[in-house]
Amino acid sequence: MRFPDLFSPMFGVVVLTLALFGMPGHAAPQAAPAASASAVADSGGGGSGSGSGKPVTVTGCGIPNVTHAVNSVCLPWYGIRDTIMSEIFQGRCGDNARAAVRLSFHDAGTFSQELQDNALPNGGADGSILVDPNEVLRSENNGLQNIVSLLQPLPDQFGVSPGDIVQIAGILAVLACPGGPAITAYVGRTPPQNIAPTGLLPSPEDPVATLVARFADMGLSSRDMIALIGAHTTGTQQFVNPAEANYTFDTTDTIWDTRFYTQTADNTTVLPDVYKLDSDVAFSTDPTTSTDFNRFIGQQSLWQTDYITAHTAMSILGQNAAHLTDCSEILPSSIDLTPLEETTTTGKGGGGGRRRRRRRGARTSPRRTR
Ligand code: HEM
Ligand SMILES: *[C@@H]1O[C@H](CO)[C@@H](O)[C@H](O)[C@H]1NC(C)=O
Ligand SMILES: *[C@@H]1O[C@H](CO)[C@@H](O)[C@H](O)[C@H]1NC(C)=O
Ligand SMILES: *[C@@H]1O[C@H](CO)[C@@H](O)[C@H](O)[C@H]1NC(C)=O
Repeated sequence: MRFPDLFSPMFGVVVLTLALFGMPGHAAPQAAPAASASAVADSGGGGSGSGSGKPVTVTGCGIPNVTHAVNSVCLPWYGIRDTIMSEIFQGRCGDNARAAVRLSFHDAGTFSQELQDNALPNGGADGSILVDPNEVLRSENNGLQNIVSLLQPLPDQFGVSPGDIVQIAGILAVLACPGGPAITAYVGRTPPQNIAPTGLLPSPEDPVATLVARFADMGLSSRDMIALIGAHTTGTQQFVNPAEANYTFDTTDTIWDTRFYTQTADNTTVLPDVYKLDSDVAFSTDPTTSTDFNRFIGQQSLWQTDYITAHTAMSILGQNAAHLTDCSEILPSSIDLTPLEETTTTGKGGGGGRRRRRRRGARTSPRRTR
């Protein structure tokens, strides 16, 4: 099933909503939120440093139309957006979207200030993970092979850099998840110079102090790290504990909500099919990070604001910001979580009546829970 018309004005909200909530095996939450009709630019473009101040015209369904493009540099990105959102993500917060979010971190998160200061080969948001065939084969990148093979043709197909494809895909993936904010969409990253050095991506077995130090070496604060880790709201694990493959990090893995924080911090409730990474639990209890962690519980808009700042910084690690162009004008509006507020800000279990599947592979009939 293809969704080539996802971003045509004719289908707009209807298709986006259906695609997100009405897909086979894709249980619907209590109420399907409608895409907000406000333009990306109207909401400040979703973050710091965003937008030229010029209004971006949208077609009434929250999806900017290339006909009204503001910056010519951004022109190809309308088509790239549609290809990624419809053909790769099928317009929903599913396996490919979650993998794209993680991929954006696994490319960018190899940046090291220390290596840069010593003029050594470095990582960063350069798309090396798409270009060097060996990088994605590393064990820390297990589970990213499929999204890499799907994105790999796009740089040549559209004449853009691999780093831009990886990071724009990550930003679009966040928007494919209801509640996900619009992150400033920079383009113009330079091509990779080398495969990313090894040993730079964090492990869930690392102590908190090690993780804080590693993010500091990326140029990200502890607070940025705690905001970013909230991306696990849409995450699953396969390789940490294969016996619990596809367990999710919270009970609402298709919604970009703060339940990940709530449920990770709660050490009294056992949730079925939820897996808590040691590092995430440690963030919620360690005195150096627990205040930031617990701050986000039930605070969707506070988290969104901090997440935008941190993810924007992550998305340009190792790049010269002065040489990049803000193409936030291409971004569809965030899907408003307000209709789901009750289910996203309260409750330890929750899920708004969403029936949980034990195994992703066990999907059968196209049935909605409500
Ligand atoms: C302390 C830092 C981090 C650690 C230790 C960590 C660790 C992990 C681990 C072990 C998995 C499961 C992989 C598997 O077995 O399938 C995972 C999944 C994931 N991570 Fe992280 N992570 C960190 C930071 C981040 C950041 C900064 C982001 C994005 C902003 C991110 C996004 C994701 C996503 C979306 C998934 C789910 C992937 C999927 O379900 O396909 N993580 N992470
Ligand atoms: C974009 O807008 C123009 C003019 O308003 C319209 O004719 C065209 O069909 C729209 N295209 C898409 C892909 O939405
Ligand atoms: C659960 O967390 C609370 C608050 O951090 C702590 O006081 C308590 O000792 C923890 N209980 C267990 C069983 O770990
Ligand atoms: C986990 O999910 C992946 C991707 O959807 C699927 O290929 C795999 O079979 C699943 N594994 C299990 C044990 O269900």
